[in-house]
Amino acid sequence: MTVQIDHALEEIRRFRPSPEFAAQAVADESLADAARADRLGFWADQARNLLQWEKPFTRTLDWTNPPFAKWFDDGELNVAVNCLDRHVAAGLGDRVAIHFEGEPGDSRDITYAELTAEVKRAANVLTDLGVGEGDRVAIYLPMIPEAIVSMLAVARIGAVHSVVFGGFSADSLASRIDDAEASLVITADGGYRKGRVFPLKPTVDEAIAKTGGSIENVLVVRRGENEVDWTEGRDHWWHETVGEASAEHEAKAFGAEHPLFILYTSGTTGKPKGILHTSGGYLTQTAFTHKNVFDLHPESDVYWCTADVGWVTGHSYVVYGPLANGATQVVYEGTPDTPHPGRWWEIIEKYKVSILYTAPTAIRSFMKLGRKIPQEFNLRSLRLLGSVGEPINPEAWIWYRHVIGGGSIPVVDTWWQTETGAIMISALPGITDLKPGSAQVPIPGISIDILSDDGTPVEGEGGGLLVVTEPWPSMLRGIWGDPERFKQTYWEKFGTEPTKAMYFAGDGARRDEDGDIWLLGRVDDVMNVSGHRLSTAEIESSLVAHPWTAEAAVVGASDETTGQAVVAFVILKASQAELVTDPAEASEELRRHVATQIGAIARPRQVFIVNELPKTRSGKIMRRLLRDLAEGREIGDTTTLADTSIMQVISAQVR
Ligand code: WTA
Repeated sequence: MTVQIDHALEEIRRFRPSPEFAAQAVADESLADAARADRLGFWADQARNLLQWEKPFTRTLDWTNPPFAKWFDDGELNVAVNCLDRHVAAGLGDRVAIHFEGEPGDSRDITYAELTAEVKRAANVLTDLGVGEGDRVAIYLPMIPEAIVSMLAVARIGAVHSVVFGGFSADSLASRIDDAEASLVITADGGYRKGRVFPLKPTVDEAIAKTGGSIENVLVVRRGENEVDWTEGRDHWWHETVGEASAEHEAKAFGAEHPLFILYTSGTTGKPKGILHTSGGYLTQTAFTHKNVFDLHPESDVYWCTADVGWVTGHSYVVYGPLANGATQVVYEGTPDTPHPGRWWEIIEKYKVSILYTAPTAIRSFMKLGRKIPQEFNLRSLRLLGSVGEPINPEAWIWYRHVIGGGSIPVVDTWWQTETGAIMISALPGITDLKPGSAQVPIPGISIDILSDDGTPVEGEGGGLLVVTEPWPSMLRGIWGDPERFKQTYWEKFGTEPTKAMYFAGDGARRDEDGDIWLLGRVDDVMNVSGHRLSTAEIESSLVAHPWTAEAAVVGASDETTGQAVVAFVILKASQAELVTDPAEASEELRRHVATQIGAIARPRQVFIVNELPKTRSGKIMRRLLRDLAEGREIGDTTTLADTSIMQVISAQVR
């Protein structure tokens, strides 16, 4: 458990919502009352009120075959129409949907009418390229409007998108293309990052060469204007196809359980899981939470979620939630410190952003730079702040509220996962008394419990395992192509009887005397680096794929800025000992190797070259001890080690 959590346990500050905020708040107590009185009726009402159905549903939940849930399944809707056409039809076509800010300083405002037209054009092109209902489309783009257009165009024609974060390597992209058997990739020549163009198309070319051959076409947005190779017949420029296509497109309605997207996330094994989400329930809960947790007043708010669409936060709170609600939002392509460290604050001032949703890791890195930078900008338009991705330490929460929020506006800490699809635990602004460091309460209609290992509820304030005890609308519907793994990973922690089907989140949590929930970090071998999930097993298998490596162990060590950092311990092959004489060089090479194999986010902070790893008598690596070492702590109990002196040897090598 990390340092910030120790602090959190002593945190006692409370912040009442201001009467002014409470008076205008979207959410009120009646939501929770309604959900308590009739949970399914509550969700059915939300689905009807927030969305436009082409065919109304009559069944809310089918849970006859747990853990395979069906929500609103005899209803039909089109997700893209819900995010676009219906707003235009309601006379909101001139409302800005996206204030786009490119890293080099270019900007464009895109209205709902324009976004709708562009999505229709892209939908026509996808159909022309042979993409049909249920076909998978990989999207590998920078954070530019075309990423959002692509996702909605895919959804519009009933195909399934698999967005792969632009920072992932060719190998990672290739394995995701193969797993989903995607037939099309949408990419760009390159995008802007840290003041330079980073090429994407070459990575796509390299990835396709490694796949089993499912890709038939590549659609390329021109953004970086970098040189790219071209495969005639396979590659198509966006501006020559979408740019020329008709903006007439009649959208078909699909069943509520029609697949919407696959998003890969790290689990406890080496292979990322393709988390599958469907349409009606997903859109209901993303729209509901976006409206109520962020107190959205779509006619006046300017909302900004800083996440990339490559992550679930970008799916649910850049694309689907905000657009379903007709929000006006900022989309920023680049890094926070380009060309100067005040770039984010400048953007907030420029667009008068009123709602900001970001990650603790970003807040902590701004804290390090000091309050002088944000104080140079006018941030008074802000009226609500949100946090997601990892536990927020109370110090960062307070800094966020005071320095960025001016001291009196609500900060909501939202807990959820790729698998949950939408926010599950959060304060409701205007209602909940805020507690820095706690995600607080399940949102209305969500049932959460904290259980011990044997499945009994944890009484009092002890910590336990976070579970969701009832199905929820935006829940994952499976792991792509692997129903067994879906059951085992999430639903069989406390037994295999269907009546006990409870969703095991993989997070530790405790409930305080007021019933507020505090997240305590992952209980499995998943790390959380800068709010991004990484698997120890995946990085270990990348390390052992290097010809120098005999064995590797990876741990997530607490890090002041990134929350956790990847720290690896590697034993080199004896045959390499003569070739690799400088451990510093070996460790650099291995760090580079992981970044090329998986992506820069997975690059270990440190790689220690050691001669031994601590193992139990049955040969299991004791990562707990390596974590002690990586965090500079006293080494814990070593009595179960096969060789109890081994930690001294390793410590000496590391220091
Ligand atoms: C962690 C991101 C504490 C948690 C939306 C979860 C959090 C994992 C919070 C999911 C929070 C996310 N407080 N921990 N507010 N939000 N987490 O799938 O460990 O990228 O299991 O989804 O992030 O990460 P994912």
